[in-house]
Amino acid sequence: MEFRVRRAPRIEAEITVPGDKSISHRAVILASLSNGVCVLRGFLPSDDCMRTVQAMRALGIKIEQPEPEMLIVHGKKRLLTPPAGEIDCGNSATTMRLLTGLLAGQPFESRLVGEATLSRRPMERVITPLREMGADIVAEGPNESPPIRIRGSKLRGIEYNSPVASAQVKSAILLAGLFAKGKTTVNEPTPSRNHTELMLSYFLVRTAKEEDGGISIFGDQVPESRDFNIPGDISSAAFWLVAAGAQPGGHLLVRDAGLNDTRTTLLGVLIRMGAQVREAVEDVDQAEPRGTVEITGAPLKGTVIQGKEIPQVIDELPILAVAGALASGTTTIRHAQELRVKETDRIAAIAHNLRAMGAQVIELNDGLEIHGRGSLRGARVASFGDHRIAMAFAVAGLFADGDTIVQDAQCVQESYPNFREALDEIMNPKKVRMTTPVISSLSPSKGDDE
Ligand code: S3P
Repeated sequence: MEFRVRRAPRIEAEITVPGDKSISHRAVILASLSNGVCVLRGFLPSDDCMRTVQAMRALGIKIEQPEPEMLIVHGKKRLLTPPAGEIDCGNSATTMRLLTGLLAGQPFESRLVGEATLSRRPMERVITPLREMGADIVAEGPNESPPIRIRGSKLRGIEYNSPVASAQVKSAILLAGLFAKGKTTVNEPTPSRNHTELMLSYFLVRTAKEEDGGISIFGDQVPESRDFNIPGDISSAAFWLVAAGAQPGGHLLVRDAGLNDTRTTLLGVLIRMGAQVREAVEDVDQAEPRGTVEITGAPLKGTVIQGKEIPQVIDELPILAVAGALASGTTTIRHAQELRVKETDRIAAIAHNLRAMGAQVIELNDGLEIHGRGSLRGARVASFGDHRIAMAFAVAGLFADGDTIVQDAQCVQESYPNFREALDEIMNPKKVRMTTPVISSLSPSKGDDE
């Protein structure tokens, strides 16, 4: 499948986006461990999240899916049963890393496999701390890469100083900690997304935030079954927020998006670049804040994205790099070496595609320097099998002279199954104006005063 994209007409739209990917994975796992039936609404039925559903089914959990976005999970009070065969994580690193943590403390053996691209991604970062907890894990590929064989063992709580700010590493250790003796603490160099911590609390699992920022969990607890509504994925909304934000006169409302502040840093970046952004949290009942984001486009200017911001915009960097190419001046992304070990080497992929579209880009070891020219030319670009590269360059095509073709775009299924329909709507807007007036009470996003 490929996307053929042409310059967008003026964007004036009100949208919702599919459920949050990170939260969907975690909701399925915690509901499965809980002591009863949990109804999950707003679930993201993407390839990656379905891998986690299938894995939990393979571990003996009954999960019904009466509608694509609704799951009924029959928690079995932490009682998992040995899988009949190997568990296939597809291309989902979240599934593989979180499950490695979960399975380390189970009284049975399991084997996790994945597609070739997943098998190239670093797993040593979860295996090392889990071994410290007493786990018996063998990574069968070169340099501790998948397949991963886990012989469940009795775990003990540890305090771990993670060398990487990674929510997947943190979550794998916390899930192992739930089955370990005593207290398990994870410290990160800078904070990563905190969905696991929030959801553990929501399922009434006792955790503690340490004074120095670390997060602790106490073993031997059963999550209390509860229903959960998953908000829209702000990382999916990011593609349309940049599309509208980079278009002078563009105007977009995103309804019912997750507004967890470990995920909304992109809004501050867009404000720095000159867009007007406002957000309103409308609900925090279920641990995760959710609400509306409004963006009004403007001629963007370059910015620097680095340091503590990086883990909190890690998934948005491809589309923010596109925003940089559309901006005047230079946009610099530093300290983002993690991009090299995502679904593809995203630094190389972004540089390659932006150059194909006529932008001037310098590839750095840990980022990019993009000299924006305000315009791009249509080109044939590659997805590199990476959903966020495919979507970022489809949006780039909305600003290019001539057609842009994004090749091998089926990978968008991993996080945004109906991306193509949303793209078609942006290119061929129905003559419907916004159904609801813009909320005047929306407060400026953080970053306004930066
Ligand atoms: C995720 C964490 C991030 C992110 C990924 C989802 C999660 O990865 O890039 O898309 O759900 O925990 P890292 O933990 O490797 O930074």
